[in-house]
Amino acid sequence: MRPSVTEAVARLGTEGAFAVLARARALEATGRDVIHLEIGEPDFETPPHVAEAGIAAIRSGETHYCQTAGLPVLREAAAATLAASRGVPIDPGHVLVANGAKPFLFFTVLATCGPGDEVIYPDPGFPIYESAVRFAGATPVPLPLREDRGFSFDPLELESLLSERTRLVILNAPQNPTGGVIPSADLERAAAAIEQTPAWVLSDEVYSRITYDVEAPSIAPLPGMLERTILLDGFSKTFAMTGWRLGYAAVPAELVDPLTRLIVNSTSCVPPFVQLAGVAALEGPQEAVGEMVAEFRRRRDFLVPALNEVPGISCIEPGGAFYAFPNVSELPIDGDVLADRLLTEAGVALLPGSAFGIHAIDHLRLSYAASLETLEQAIGRIDSFVKAL
Ligand SMILES: Cc1ncc(COP(=O)(O)O)c(C=O)c1O
Repeated sequence: MRPSVTEAVARLGTEGAFAVLARARALEATGRDVIHLEIGEPDFETPPHVAEAGIAAIRSGETHYCQTAGLPVLREAAAATLAASRGVPIDPGHVLVANGAKPFLFFTVLATCGPGDEVIYPDPGFPIYESAVRFAGATPVPLPLREDRGFSFDPLELESLLSERTRLVILNAPQNPTGGVIPSADLERAAAAIEQTPAWVLSDEVYSRITYDVEAPSIAPLPGMLERTILLDGFSKTFAMTGWRLGYAAVPAELVDPLTRLIVNSTSCVPPFVQLAGVAALEGPQEAVGEMVAEFRRRRDFLVPALNEVPGISCIEPGGAFYAFPNVSELPIDGDVLADRLLTEAGVALLPGSAFGIHAIDHLRLSYAASLETLEQAIGRIDSFVKAL
């Protein structure tokens, strides 16, 4: 008899960005030149004072196991940061620390949902949401994001999807993959409707500091929400710390123990020297964040108009994150084929809308975490390819 894997693990999805990166690398290994716009990570170094804090902590011996919920000093710094930026009181005892924001997506679903429960999540959206829901045996309920609403959802549609079976509502703004934000009025409608249900809210705000002229309000301060909201933020995007694997969340009292147990069962704790770098990031100078966002804005201001110049492509201006999400429905080939051919024929790696759900298949996601020169080159290649179709 052959050993087998579980049905649950077979239900796990994956992240298209990593799959396309692998294909792009394979092409490069054959000598092809590929422009990388597929992966969602800042192309900046971790700010030096943050890196130095991590190195100093290693030198001083902060290299052992530590508290599963997080070092008190980081939980306090994170609570203060969330309280100040979202305008809500946050008890440091309700803040947990994990290896990135990602584990909180998975663990929140595992802690709150099972078979028969429904989870509403944005579509297009970060693919790990649906993957975690399927793994838990719960029912994924995609909430379409509407291009004509700046890729926010229609509150009426959310209201129609909510029921007593809804156990969790996942919101994300600024949003991956669209760069959209959720206007206050939509959040207020959402909060009022969610309050009538037994649903938790997972508010994924990992791009909260990366916005351009618009606000990306949080649902947490709205009436009745803090008690049911997992308010999630991280270091990967804000401080260019993707490889450090550090994230944090303020969670309702009832979830502190279940989530801490999931962490102790999986990773035990985040390395203390990583957490101390996190304290330096939150409490130290913030100029590097402002400079990074200013550079992202310059790129967005080049990329979006340039995409709109390409015949058959239209792109709305993203209010946050570092993604453009152009509509390619006017072109004679679909989004999947287009993304595939742009990689193999034009040497531009990007993602099709289908990597993010079923509701935006005629879109592409371009990460503009790449230099202006790289973006100019990419636009040149996309324009020539599209004109030759
Ligand atoms: C919306 C969203 N949430 C969470 C994450 C995970 O971030 P982290 O690196 O902190 O695990 C990402 C990363 O791409 C993301 O786009």
